[in-house]
Amino acid sequence: MVAREISAGIWSVGAIDWDRRLFDELIPLPNGTSYNAYLVRGRDKTALIDTVDPSKEYDLVSNLIRLGIEKIDYIVINHAEQDHAGSLPMILEFYPDAAVVTNAKCRDLLIALLHVPPEKFKIVADRDILSLGDRTLEFILTPWTHWPETQLTFLCEDKILFPCDLFGSHVAGSDLFMRDDWAAYVSAKRYYAEIMMPFRNSIRGYIDTVRALSPVMIAPSHGPIYKDPAFILDAYDDWTSDTVRNEVVLPFTSMHGSTAKMVDYFTDALLARGIAVKPFNLSKTDIGELAMALVDAATIVIATPTVLFGPHPQVIYATYLANMLRPKARFASVIGSYGWGGKSAEILVKMLDHVKAEVLEPVVVRGLPDETALRGLDRLADDIARKHKEISAV
Ligand code: FEO
Repeated sequence: MVAREISAGIWSVGAIDWDRRLFDELIPLPNGTSYNAYLVRGRDKTALIDTVDPSKEYDLVSNLIRLGIEKIDYIVINHAEQDHAGSLPMILEFYPDAAVVTNAKCRDLLIALLHVPPEKFKIVADRDILSLGDRTLEFILTPWTHWPETQLTFLCEDKILFPCDLFGSHVAGSDLFMRDDWAAYVSAKRYYAEIMMPFRNSIRGYIDTVRALSPVMIAPSHGPIYKDPAFILDAYDDWTSDTVRNEVVLPFTSMHGSTAKMVDYFTDALLARGIAVKPFNLSKTDIGELAMALVDAATIVIATPTVLFGPHPQVIYATYLANMLRPKARFASVIGSYGWGGKSAEILVKMLDHVKAEVLEPVVVRGLPDETALRGLDRLADDIARKHKEISAV
C-alpha cells in the first residue's frame, strides 16, 4: 500500500494484505485484511503509531523512505500482537534513535515476544501526554481491547483517535475511508464478533471514554478509517449492550439425517412462533458467520448426533468457540439424536460455562425422531417464545 495522507501532516503508511485468509490459524478472513500504521509529523518531533505484520515490513519501510522520513523520534506501540508490533525490530534498525512509547505491560510483552532491548522504551501511564511540538499525543490505557496491554492514542489538536484493534475490520480494500455503510457495518460486526466480543463488558465502558474525547476521526489499525465516528460508536453501543434479538442461533451437524430432521422441524416451529432462526450446518459453515450471529441472539440451541458416547467433534469445536466468545445469549438448549446412549446434552451444557444462559430442557431422542420427539421440539419452541417475551427480546 502506498502512503496516503489522511489529514495535513498525518499519513497512513501501513500495508494491505489482500491474500490473507486466516488469522491466528483460526479466524477466517474472507476479505483479507490491512495492517494500518500512521505517521504523525509535529513541528519538533515525528511519531509512528503502530507498525505492521512482519510479512509486510518492507511495505512500511518503503512508505517511510518514499515520504523522505529520515528521523522518527517516537514509535508508539498500542498493542504487542505481532500484526501491529511485529515489524518493530526492523523499524528500530532503520531508525535506531527512536524511542518505543508504550505502557509497562506492553513493554514486557514486546521484550518477551520480539526481544526488543529494554533500553529502547519510554513508558507511559494512563492519560500521559507526549508533545510533538505543535501536536500532542495522549495515551489512554484500555486493557482487554484484545490483550491486557492494549491502549489507545489520541492526537489531541486534530482530534484523531488511533485505537489499534478496537473498532477495526478485517478487510483489504482500496478505500482509505469508510464508504459503503452496509459493507463496512458487516465487516466491523464480524470483526467485533471474532475478536472483541469476549471483552464486551470492558469495551462498553471504553465507548463512553471515546465519546468524551469527541474525536472527528477514528483510525484503527485494521480496515477503513471512520470520518463519522458516530457510525462505529453507535454500532458498538448496540453490540455491547444487553439488548438481545428475538432470534435463535442453531449450529448443527447430522450424520445419518435424524438430527437434520429435528433441525428442520425445529426451524419451522420457531419461525411459526415469530422467532428468527439462523441454522449453521457445521460441515459447511464459515465459523466467522456463526460468531457474527452470536452477537445479538437471545438463544443458542446446539444440535448434535451422538458419536460413541458424546457430541459430534464438529459440534464440540463450535461449542468450545462459542463459549470462548462469551456471547450475551440469555438462554441455551440442546437437541439431537443417539443410537444406544450417551451424554451429549450434559457435555454440551457444561461446555457453555462462560455463557451466562438459563438452560432450557433439551430434546435428545433415540434414532429417527417420532411424533413424541416432534412434540418435544414444539415444547422447546414454546419455552423459547415465552422466555423471549419475558425479557422483551427485540
Ligand atoms: Fe490486530 Fe490483536 O491484533
